[in-house]
Amino acid sequence: IQTPRVRIVEVGPRDGLQNIREKVPTSTKLELIQRLRDAGLRTIELTSVVSPRAIPQLADCRDVLGNSSVNTLLQHDQAGLRFPVLVPNVKGLEIAVQYGVKEVAVFISATEGFSKANINCSVEQGIARAKEVAGLARKAGVAVRGYVSCIFADPYDGPTPEAAVLRCVTSLLDAGCYEVSLGDTLGVGSPANVHSLIQYLTSHGVPMEKLAGHFHDTYGQAVANVWEAYSCGMRVFDSSVGGLGGCPFAPGAKGNVASEDLVYMFQNAGISTGVDLAKLVQTGEWISRQLSQSNSSRAGKALSIK
Ligand code: HMG
Ligand code: MG
Repeated sequence: IQTPRVRIVEVGPRDGLQNIREKVPTSTKLELIQRLRDAGLRTIELTSVVSPRAIPQLADCRDVLGNSSVNTLLQHDQAGLRFPVLVPNVKGLEIAVQYGVKEVAVFISATEGFSKANINCSVEQGIARAKEVAGLARKAGVAVRGYVSCIFADPYDGPTPEAAVLRCVTSLLDAGCYEVSLGDTLGVGSPANVHSLIQYLTSHGVPMEKLAGHFHDTYGQAVANVWEAYSCGMRVFDSSVGGLGGCPFAPGAKGNVASEDLVYMFQNAGISTGVDLAKLVQTGEWISRQLSQSNSSRAGKALSIK
């Protein structure tokens, strides 16, 4: 088997579903995770353990994590498989650990407005909280990934200074995150912004191999942003099957870059992702039908009618 040259972090079961208004049955979430795994995705963010008032859609996180099929995945000791769970605080970490989760993702915003709306605290407090969670997680042998939101703009505060992103990235790396995912939460950035930010961060000492890209697709720039980041040396990208995704605290933002579109783009460039595109396309079609939504993946749609 060829070693994938880019790593895809599938965030469909978490980011993809967190903002769906209608209740999605737990069984659908479990089937989605299984189908993604069957399509060859090696990193799948399973759910989040957050306040059910903040994100009612994922209030069944314990049922997801406690299900025997997920339990089997969590116990899988095959190298290279990762099943992170998003946690905002120590409470979330403790619950995740109870279910055998071996990797958590902590999240902060580079900007005050979104930080307050999303996690009800300032940027500084968010960093302190993430540090506490990361420290405890690492003591418990749990790997920690970090997210920085609003890398280009904040829904309430406007454009984000690059220095604010740098501060958050270095704080998360210092806290022990093995990688930090740069979140264009609003999906407003374009390749020139991506280029500029990556240059800025790496010229200030952030190692390229510690960075991942998380691009929402509001302005249709997400695939181009991934390609630009790849050209700058980035090798880890978050995406969501069917282009699902969004955050209730980032009004108007669209879903993540579609996993199908990413895989199609990399495959055509001879860059292996380790993902079976045909199975992924079927999964995108299936979940779109389950959610009564049209499939937001352009490649997924095109390939499914072929
Ligand atoms: P708060 O109200 O300040 O905190 O919320 P609190 O400690 O007072 O707790 C409020 C209630 O939540 C209490 O319940 C707690 O027990 C409960 P009550 O006593 O009122 O019944 N609670 C929890 N329940 C389950 N799991 C927990 C937990 N913590 C507290 N871990 C808090 C602060 C951070 C908890 C809240 O604001 C929250 O949960 N926010 C999460 C919001 C969220 O999940 N947003 C979406 C994910 S981030 C994202 O999408 C961006 C990303 O994709 C990257 C990008 O695109 O940029 C990652
Ligand atoms: Mg997101």
